[in-house]
Amino acid sequence: MKGTIIFATGNAGKMREIREILGDTGLKILSMKEAGAETDIVEDGDSFEANAMIKAKAVARTLAERNDPACGDVIVMADDSGLEIDALGGEPGIYSARYMGEDTPYSVKSGSLIERLAGVPDERRTARFVCAIAAVLPSGDTVVTRGVVEGRIGYEELGDNGFGYDPIFYVPEYGCTTAQLTEEEKNRISHRGRALRAMREELKKRIE
Ligand code: IMP
Repeated sequence: MKGTIIFATGNAGKMREIREILGDTGLKILSMKEAGAETDIVEDGDSFEANAMIKAKAVARTLAERNDPACGDVIVMADDSGLEIDALGGEPGIYSARYMGEDTPYSVKSGSLIERLAGVPDERRTARFVCAIAAVLPSGDTVVTRGVVEGRIGYEELGDNGFGYDPIFYVPEYGCTTAQLTEEEKNRISHRGRALRAMREELKKRIE
């Protein structure tokens, strides 16, 4: 494939995963910062898909306004992700990062979720990490993919790897939390990995 992917994130870990999964497309992969297209974005959508698309379109607009001839073969991508807990009606969902305030430590946020699940038995502690990836293609067409990893909310924080809610997200098949998996193991099953692989298949169908 020809062209460049500009991914709307400043997160180095995400960029590593994106390069690993989309690297074999032959497309050049740049972060928003590397492309000089940093934009302030208000994520006011009501779903992961809507928020990912808001971000991708905002960066695509910034690039178009610059009238850069290199924009001709640019694919702009963005993601949005979070944790849905069934017994809490899907909370924190699209508000995962903002739950109890953006700057509140995750140990506090996770502690609060565990507390709210007090008395909820194993079989009703089901939860999932969800990731939506949106792309604006050079033609102006848009594509969105979704990846999910199913698990359960534990009773305490376990593990030091990962970030965010990983220490309370127990994956039954592995018998541990995603914070107890290595980065490689987590990438293999993660919501983001799944959404990225689905996006790679979409690009293969749509981009020469
Ligand atoms: P973002 O959309 O990637 O910024 O993610 C939103 C929030 O969802 C993060 O700040 C975390 O709280 C949560 N989250 C998303 N993916 C993960 C994950 O893989 N592990 C733990 N928390 C996650």
